Amino acid sequence: MFANTSVQEFFPTPVWTIDLRSQVAEQLNQKLLADLERLTSPRPTQLELGGFWQTQTDMHTRPEFAELTSLLRKATKAALDFLQLEYRAFSITACWANFGPTGGGHSRHTHPNNYLSGVYYVRTPAGADSIDFFDPRPAAAAMMAPARQLNRFNGNQMTIKVHPGRLIIFPSWLLHGVPVNRTNQERVSIAYNAMFSDFTETMSRPMRPGNLPFQRP
Ligand SMILES: [Fe+2]
Repeated sequence: MFANTSVQEFFPTPVWTIDLRSQVAEQLNQKLLADLERLTSPRPTQLELGGFWQTQTDMHTRPEFAELTSLLRKATKAALDFLQLEYRAFSITACWANFGPTGGGHSRHTHPNNYLSGVYYVRTPAGADSIDFFDPRPAAAAMMAPARQLNRFNGNQMTIKVHPGRLIIFPSWLLHGVPVNRTNQERVSIAYNAMFSDFTETMSRPMRPGNLPFQRP
């Protein structure tokens, strides 16, 4: 009856997963943990219940994190090349470490005024080793038909498992969040934002992560 059937995926949302070779990851993560220990000493003692804490956002300017910064730049360039974009230069506009203690999560958010964002994983206790992405089309949730099998066409949340040495890169406008850490170990990751340098320099200063673009005067 049907001569041809095809489905085209218009306007897809790319999320990149990049894994370092395990030996490279082990060495890098050991060094990162030691450098982060120095950077965050003394650690904050009073944490908000259910929350997490972050370093300052200038890690990409610190010489001890140069290896990581170079890796993030290479992966970002590869993502921009994949998208076949024309641009003069891009900048890492912020880079910071996230520490997720037991009971800590990170509610859904975006990274405004950036083009790509990413998270590199340093320590991921089993059970606190995922990141959630949410459907950026709010209207799609107006009719959620029951599905025989949830998949990327009918679902509105995608979860990626992560492990030390894994880097996830995604469009900065894509809603994401981190489930509550139900283990008794701390989760450690390093996040960053990247933006086209022309835009950063002339049009807009990047906002801190977690600031949705809704601000009361
Ligand atoms: Fe984020």
